[in-house]
Amino acid sequence: MDNEDIAEAALPQKLRADIERAAELLRRGGLVAFPTETVYGLGADASSDAAVARIFEAKGRPQFNPLIVHVANMAAAEALGCFSKAARALANALWPGALTLVVNRTPQCPVSALASAGLATLALRVPAHPVARALLTTVDLPVAAPSANRSGTISPTLAAHVRTSLGDRVDFVVDGGACPIGLESTIVDCTGDAPVILRFGGIGRARLEEVLGTPVKFRDVDGDPTAPGQLSSHYAPRARLRLNVHEVLDGEALLGFGPDLPPHQGPALNLSEAGDLLEAAANLFAHLHALDAAGVSGIAAMPVPAEGLGEAINDRLVRAAAPRNA
Ligand code: TXA
Ligand code: MG
Repeated sequence: MDNEDIAEAALPQKLRADIERAAELLRRGGLVAFPTETVYGLGADASSDAAVARIFEAKGRPQFNPLIVHVANMAAAEALGCFSKAARALANALWPGALTLVVNRTPQCPVSALASAGLATLALRVPAHPVARALLTTVDLPVAAPSANRSGTISPTLAAHVRTSLGDRVDFVVDGGACPIGLESTIVDCTGDAPVILRFGGIGRARLEEVLGTPVKFRDVDGDPTAPGQLSSHYAPRARLRLNVHEVLDGEALLGFGPDLPPHQGPALNLSEAGDLLEAAANLFAHLHALDAAGVSGIAAMPVPAEGLGEAINDRLVRAAAPRNA
């Protein structure tokens, strides 16, 4: 019996039943809040665009930030991301734990494009909390989970915080008591030549440097979302994107929204024929990628109403359409 089995066997019956229920809800595309050693996460099946779209809807975030994808162990992590030597050293030393590693996606990575905001990279974490571990082992799916609070509010460290903040926007809350660390995970970008800290959190810089045997720098990506470094970390299609379009030009693909599309000849995809913003959010990155891959010179995007999830959709379209000099 390894540590994981001991911890899980020690969970009270009620908690085990709650974990079963949570796993079932996740499999059906539901939203489940669960404790980790850092903060409570708002989890959804990371392989489902629709389930991930519900996270953004529930958080009421006006932007699609890339999310952390949680898995049960290193084997599950390696199915999703490519680990450099440094990434592997950090994972071996500090997982399970309060560490998130940004790595490149594997070619077959099944994680929703929305979960990583269309990026070719992925933030992965193996949490140590016994309830989180039991849930991830039971559900056997990658689980995308930001902190389980409405956007702009304080991160939740108790089940009651989640209920107060999200109410019935979350399908179920697994109550595992207080989160022992109470501060988010440390995020380390391992996609470049040297690992870089993107966010300070539960694991200190000194511990990372001890594992790697080298100094580790910090790069502030959250400070200024319009800084060039931040913009370049966003997915942008190769094709030129025109927004709020009612007429499609020659050589352009159409990114539609709603039942009435303008006349068009090239490739066309509809974010949501029914004009449903949740469906549109789920399709956004996958459709942009697909139209871009068709080799068109431009993509004409129809207007999307700027309400609810439409705000985040428009934010992302505007960024993807921004002129690029870099
Ligand atoms: O402790 C935690 O990390 C908690 C628990 C639930 O695991 N989760 C959490 O998630 O704090 P969230 O969504 O609040 O923060 C995710 C952060 C964002 O600041 C985002 O910019 C960064 O992770 N991130 C995610 N994917 C990334 C990527 N591919 N590249 C760079 N940064 C990424
Ligand atoms: Mg957060």
